[in-house]
Amino acid sequence: MSQINYPPQHIAIIMDGNGRWAKKRGLPRIAGHQAGGNNIRPTFQSLINYGVKYLTLYAFSTENWNRPKTEVSGLIHLLTQKIDRETENLHKNNIRLIHIGKTNKLSIKLQQKLSAAISLTKNNTAFTLCLAFDYGGRDEIVQATKRIIDAGLSSAELDETVFSQYLFTSGLPNPDFIIRTGGENRLSNFLLWQASYSELYFTPVLWPDFNQKEIEKALIEYEHRKRRFGAI
Ligand code: IPE
Ligand code: IPE
Ligand code: MG
Repeated sequence: MSQINYPPQHIAIIMDGNGRWAKKRGLPRIAGHQAGGNNIRPTFQSLINYGVKYLTLYAFSTENWNRPKTEVSGLIHLLTQKIDRETENLHKNNIRLIHIGKTNKLSIKLQQKLSAAISLTKNNTAFTLCLAFDYGGRDEIVQATKRIIDAGLSSAELDETVFSQYLFTSGLPNPDFIIRTGGENRLSNFLLWQASYSELYFTPVLWPDFNQKEIEKALIEYEHRKRRFGAI
């Protein structure tokens, strides 16, 4: 493991390529999602070792409901399984779990499991794992706008800082580094507001194959980026 002198504080990953990973092996798509799910723990463990503090994972977009029913229910089942099997481990390791996105389409039982895991880990301080599930950047902005209207804010009271406080990501730093695996060069509705000055990294490596060596490659690339934020 090489030394990384300037790790990003917050990394966000668009975990794409599970379906193609499975197809290449003649397996059903859900086997790719399982393999992708198994890559989550090694990823955050490695990022913790590099000094990263926040990881946001794009697991299910508001558009992913348009997939075949069996795939959608497989992904929801996987989420349930992960919460059941990983919450204790997160808590033991002082990791806080949070969620961004909608929960209203999930079963009441799953909503309860998710909120129990979030509340169990809410005071943990070593690392924050933010799960984007049923998340869409446009939806987030619309939901924020509705809450602002409902709160009765006047136009004079609204600025970027206040607006940010109504987003799902309220309280989180913006992602410094957004990684997309799987070879597509787009955001697919991920963190549209928060990505304004994120460094973007696209790799053809499929998510289940995105290992320690690939993480290191990405972090070395990040170290070479010059972030100007519009200044000189
Ligand atoms: C990403 O993998 C996971 C989700 C969107 C849930 P895909 O399922 O999109 O994999 P590809 O893009 O078809 O290979
Ligand atoms: C983006 O992947 C969403 C997640 C990784 C959860 P998609 O596979 O859904 O994106 P598109 O359809 O290729 O843009
Ligand atoms: Mg995809």
